[in-house]
Amino acid sequence: MIKFPPGFLWGAATSAYQVEGDNRNSDWWQWEKDAGKERSGPACRHYELYKRDFDLAVRLQHNAHRLSIEWSRIEPREGKFSQKELKHYLDVILALKKRNIEPVVTLHHFSNPAWFARSGGWLDNRAASRFLGFCEFVVRPLAKHVRYWITINEPTIYISHAYILGVWPPQVKSYIKAYIVEEHLAQAHVQAYDMINKVYKELNLGYPFVSIAQHLMDYIPHKKDLKNQLAVYLRDRLYNMGFLERIIRYSPERKHLDFIGLNYYSRQVVDPKKFGLENLAMDVLDKKYTRCPTNSLGWAIYPKGIYDLLLELKNYGLPVMITENGICTEDDNQRWEFIYSHLSYIHRAMSKGVEVIGYLYWSLMDNFEWDKGFAPRFGLIKVDYATLKRTLRRSARKFAKVCKAGVLK
Ligand code: FCB
Repeated sequence: MIKFPPGFLWGAATSAYQVEGDNRNSDWWQWEKDAGKERSGPACRHYELYKRDFDLAVRLQHNAHRLSIEWSRIEPREGKFSQKELKHYLDVILALKKRNIEPVVTLHHFSNPAWFARSGGWLDNRAASRFLGFCEFVVRPLAKHVRYWITINEPTIYISHAYILGVWPPQVKSYIKAYIVEEHLAQAHVQAYDMINKVYKELNLGYPFVSIAQHLMDYIPHKKDLKNQLAVYLRDRLYNMGFLERIIRYSPERKHLDFIGLNYYSRQVVDPKKFGLENLAMDVLDKKYTRCPTNSLGWAIYPKGIYDLLLELKNYGLPVMITENGICTEDDNQRWEFIYSHLSYIHRAMSKGVEVIGYLYWSLMDNFEWDKGFAPRFGLIKVDYATLKRTLRRSARKFAKVCKAGVLK
């Protein structure tokens, strides 16, 4: 029997663009159309159905829920802030509180207002101050009801997909531009962090808990030779810990992080062909040679990775919240095995002294998986997109028992 501490946060995560539907003022909406991608359209209609969805979360014994606020709804045109949409998100948060579910609120989850993208997006020098304007508008009125804030979701994934690989809008492929965007995202986090703290102080609300959700991949050397070890080290710096450390460097004594939000999905076996920088940073062993079970998108399933990474995070001396961990699969038994094995490894890391404060499965329900469309099924709750009917999966019921008792049997 594996026992988690009292007060542990148990629940699931979503993001606005992936579940709400009809986010017409977002750069993603425009891009789906222009790039001929599968359209997000009404998605799960969570914008209208959120209360029913939260009732399901209650049935699933969740005591926490991660959601995001869609910037493009709040500020559909530069400087024009919508009180109506602010009221909507206040209602959403109050609906969670009424159900005794702790909200974990993300301010940026990949999607941007179309006007922001058109006028330079995250490359523009005004990016951080524009983002701050949006944050100021939403944080103050919501502060009373929220303790946990995630400023930016997976900055490194956003940068690599949108500015290095060029597979997400704005489809740029440039290391130099990626570096500039990284700097702006780090500034955005630091400024939002300071602002949130100021607001809580002014309103006498005690301390907020502010972080980012950092995607970490477990990098494994194909061979234990110098080239492979170097590649693992480089990747760990570049893609895993680099952004966190960049934030901490702004002021090492304050860190600008109250905990670390960890999103963990997979591992990569590195296999650089030669010592070139690009090889060290990019070459991985073909999936068919790594002999690891995979999810329906071909990502390796490697539960021990979460343990390795949690131990690595121990160096930062901060509590960790698992802000995402999940699997897309058509086989629900595989989903339960995934949850079970990852929770076991999380607990093992906790017994080695890592302070983990919560586990949020990705995702509460099936949803729009960005450029992959609706095919990947990550949900604890199945969504029939033709009727929008929700059905609890068996894995969700098994996970509910863990959430209820805080015990993994
Ligand atoms: C993460 C994203 C989340 C979802 C999952 C599968 O990288 O934060 O929005 O797409 O992957």
